[in-house]
Amino acid sequence: MSLLIKNGEIVTPDERYLADIFCENETITRIERNIGEVKADEVIDATGKYVFPGFIDPHVHIYLPFMGTFAKDTHETASRAALVGGTTTFIEMICPARNEKPMEAFELWLGKAQGKSACDFTFHMGVTRYDDEAERDFKDIVKRGLSSFKIFLAYKGAFGITDEELYATLTLAKKLGVIVTAHCENADLVFELQKKLLSEGKTGPEFHYWSRPPVIEAEGVHHLMTFAELTGAHVYIVHTSCEESLAEAIRGRERGVNVWVETLIQYLLLDRTNAEPNFEGAKNVMSPPLRDKKNQEVMWKALADGSVSTLATDHAPFDWAQKQMGKGDFTKIPNGIPSLEDRINLYFTHGVKGNKIDIQRFVDTASAQAAKLFGLFPRKGAIKVGSDADLVVYDPNYRGKISAKTHRMNLDYNSFEGFEIQGRPHVVAVRGKVAARDGKFVGEPGRGQFLKREPSHF
Ligand code: URP
Ligand code: ZN
Ligand code: ZN
Repeated sequence: MSLLIKNGEIVTPDERYLADIFCENETITRIERNIGEVKADEVIDATGKYVFPGFIDPHVHIYLPFMGTFAKDTHETASRAALVGGTTTFIEMICPARNEKPMEAFELWLGKAQGKSACDFTFHMGVTRYDDEAERDFKDIVKRGLSSFKIFLAYKGAFGITDEELYATLTLAKKLGVIVTAHCENADLVFELQKKLLSEGKTGPEFHYWSRPPVIEAEGVHHLMTFAELTGAHVYIVHTSCEESLAEAIRGRERGVNVWVETLIQYLLLDRTNAEPNFEGAKNVMSPPLRDKKNQEVMWKALADGSVSTLATDHAPFDWAQKQMGKGDFTKIPNGIPSLEDRINLYFTHGVKGNKIDIQRFVDTASAQAAKLFGLFPRKGAIKVGSDADLVVYDPNYRGKISAKTHRMNLDYNSFEGFEIQGRPHVVAVRGKVAARDGKFVGEPGRGQFLKREPSHF
C-alpha cells in the first residue's frame, strides 16, 4: 500500500514548506521537494492545499455510562465523524463506576473500540476509586500501554474521588511516570449550590452555570496544584473554561508545578447565553459550564501564547430525548456538548482565518502537543520520515455550514448549527490509507489501532 501526496504546503509547529510526501506500509518514507516517477497505489494532488499531521483529540467520551444514561456514539459512528473532520487519533476516557474493577473496565473499553474504530485510539485510565486492589490493576494497566490517568474532582457520588484517593493517585503516577488528567471543580460546593438553587425553584438549564461558577472551577484547579506540588506528579487540567482557572494553573506553574492546560472549542465559540433562556439551552449544558463571553479572548490568547497547550472537544454526545431527563431539574441534564467532527474546521475558521492563532500554533495545539504530552510523538503529531502516515490534506478554500442534517455524529442536533466554516479536509489518511475525502467517510471500521504508550512523566 503506497500513497503519494504532491505539491502540498506542509505545515508543522516548526516548519512550513512545499514538498511531496511518499508513504509506504503505513509510514512516511520520503519527503522531498519533487518526488519524480514513483509507483504509488494512490496519488493526491495537494496543489493550493495544506498538509497537516493527523489531528489528535486528547479528550473524548464514546462509551460513557453517565448520569443514568449512555452517550450515543459508538466507536464506528464517532471514528467516522472524527475522520471526516480531520481527527485521526483520539484519546478516550475510561470512566468506571466506583465498584468496577479497573482492569475489567480497561478490557471493557478496549473491547468496545477494537475492531470497530476506523481511526487510531488510546485511553486515559479513569481512577474513580483507589485501594490496594485498584492500585495493582493500575500498575498492570500501565504495563498494557496506558500512560495517563484521569481523575474527577467533580461529580460527587459518581466518578469523584476523595482527597486521600487524590493523594494516592498522584503519588502512584509520579512513581510510574504517568501524567494525570483532571476535571477540576469542587464537588462539594457544586452539590451545595445545586441544592440551594433547586430549593429556590431555580430548575432550568440556565441555573447550571450558577451551580458551577468560575470560582468553583478555580478552587478545583488550586486544589490540584497543591496536591501536585506536594507529590511532584505531572498534571493536565482538562476542559479549562475561564480566566480564573487559568490563573490558578499559571500560578502553580510559576511555583514549579508541572502542569499543562487544555481548553475546548466550545469555550472559544459559545458562551453561557447559549444555555439560556428556555429548556432548549439544555443542549448546551456541560461541565464546567459555558462562560461569559469575555473568557473567549482570554482562552484564544492563552492558546496563542502557549499558556494553554491543547484544544480538545470533550465529546460527550447525549441526544435531545436524553437531555429531557433534566426537565424540571437542571442537575439531571446529561452533561456534554459534542463536537468531535467539527473541532478542526471551527478552529481553522475562527482561529487561523480569524487571525486569532498562527497556522503553526494551530497544528501544535490540535495535534503535536497532545502527541508529545501523551507519549505518541513522533509516531503521531509529526510529518517526518518514520512517522505514521496520518495526514490531512486541507482545503482552505472550501466554504460550508455546520448542520445536524449532514453531520456524522450520532446525534439529532448540533450546538454549532448554522456556523459557517472556511476550510475542510480534502483527504484524510490514517497510516497511509485514505479514510475520508471531501466530507465523506471512505475508511474501514475496525482498521483503527490501539496505540500503546510508554510513561515519560517522571
Ligand atoms: O460536561 C461534560 N464535560 N461531560 C463529559 C464528562 C466530563 O466531565 O468530562
Ligand atoms: Zn470533565
Ligand atoms: Zn470529559
